[in-house]
Amino acid sequence: MSRLGNLYQSVIGKKAIVAVTGSIMIGFLLLHGWGNLKVFSGATAAGVPEVDVYADFLRTMGVPILPYGSALWIIRIVVLVSLILHVICVVQLARHNRKARPVHYKHARNFEEATLPARAMIYTGSIVVLFLGFHLAQFTVGGVGSAPFVQGDVYGNLYGAFQHPVYVALYVGVMAVIGIHLYHGAWSLFQTLGWDNPDRNKSLRMLSVALGVGIFLAFSAIPISFFSGEMNKPSLQHADTSSRSNK
Ligand code: HEM
Repeated sequence: MSRLGNLYQSVIGKKAIVAVTGSIMIGFLLLHGWGNLKVFSGATAAGVPEVDVYADFLRTMGVPILPYGSALWIIRIVVLVSLILHVICVVQLARHNRKARPVHYKHARNFEEATLPARAMIYTGSIVVLFLGFHLAQFTVGGVGSAPFVQGDVYGNLYGAFQHPVYVALYVGVMAVIGIHLYHGAWSLFQTLGWDNPDRNKSLRMLSVALGVGIFLAFSAIPISFFSGEMNKPSLQHADTSSRSNK
């Protein structure tokens, strides 16, 4: 077997894959959060919301060297492959740990010293994957949710969706779950990298908490702001952006 194959088969190799793919997805989330926060940046002089301009930029990135939309497709493929590898390796590591455990614990109290977020990783991770399917159907492909979907009109789509308390509650609830997942994910990442040590652990824990809470607050601010009536109604910009392709 090749050296790469051997590494993949080993526990340390799988942990490295989980760490690298997790970091890629954290990077994507930070970028996505930054892009989403453009809903608070208003509109251009022509009345096009800044968030729609950003969505258009994602598609025109690299043009004319790359064909229209291809840079975005590269990002999508990297994130998708990362997600698949992350899930496969996490499941394999969990199986390995179960097999390696010499006795089955009878009482939860005797369970290894894992925190609640650590033991909940498999559940919080599953919720993220389920959410992602729904989220793409709602805001990228369209067709799911009660508000009409207009390709390229990101601001209008968000505005329409978050007039409904059910979607606001769903998104804020899932963002809390993602925050918890990221908190423990970041902490595990630091351990895999071998950065943990009694002198640094407090700071690394704080950094992990800051990431989880920061992502929760930044993402939740969007549905809450649309629902609270703080955001302007989409108006003229519909006509301007609906002519743009979202492919
Ligand atoms: C309040 C929270 C969120 C809001 C308001 C939001 C909003 C959006 C919108 C409007 C789009 C379509 C953008 C476009 O067409 O250019 C989108 C796409 C996407 N979102 Fe989110 N998002 C949120 C949270 C998340 C989270 C937590 C994840 C990951 C776990 C995520 C992953 C994605 C992905 C993968 C895409 C597809 C990107 C693409 O292919 O263009 N989103 N999101």
